[in-house]
Amino acid sequence: MLIKSADFKTSAASLALCPASAMREFAFIGRSNVGKSSLLNMLTGRKALTKVSSTPGHTQLINFFTINNAWTLVDLPGYGYAKMPKSARRGFIEMVTDYLEKRPNIACVFVLVDSRLEPQEIDLEFIEWLVSCEVPLALVFTKADKLKDQHIESNMADFLTKLKDWVEGEPDIFITSSEDKTGRTELLNFIQKTLAEK
Ligand code: GTP
Ligand code: MG
Repeated sequence: MLIKSADFKTSAASLALCPASAMREFAFIGRSNVGKSSLLNMLTGRKALTKVSSTPGHTQLINFFTINNAWTLVDLPGYGYAKMPKSARRGFIEMVTDYLEKRPNIACVFVLVDSRLEPQEIDLEFIEWLVSCEVPLALVFTKADKLKDQHIESNMADFLTKLKDWVEGEPDIFITSSEDKTGRTELLNFIQKTLAEK
């Protein structure tokens, strides 16, 4: 898939404020610092795509981008902020869970996982919850350039083994690097294929 256009549409602070849209949505989420902004810029080929999402005030909002006038890319706030005050965390969790549970046009949620780390409980728990809500998801292992292939394979195998304790079946998996564009073609092809399915 060629990215011909990538335009910021809007930010929303709640499900009710998300724009009504007939376009299908591909949402990206992961723990803070997992490499989400870098991945979105790499995927769209727009260096500053996520500038909007990272400006103060927008980081804790759901950010919508229209791609090729054909589908919507959704930048979701990261989970697992230890530093966020409890009161803020509650509203934030409600916003993201509401979106994931109830948004009708979600085509796929890409869950980003840092390929350098051992399986993290918070990622496994989040994936289990997504599966329980029957949200279609795929896994994206980020920062692959930082590891030798062998090491990535073994970390991924560990993650998938652990995941079996939490959910049935195996989701689609992508290995990416925003540094050397690993996985870009595969991810965009997957999006194209998913769009063609319905
Ligand atoms: P927050 O929005 O701050 O939660 O982070 P994020 O998930 O958007 O991650 P971001 O893209 O800002 O990247 C976090 C750090 O990891 C930065 O220092 C990036 O340069 C680095 N990084 C991200 N992706 C890659 C990658 O594919 N390879 C390497 N080597 N570094 C990466
Ligand atoms: Mg970011």
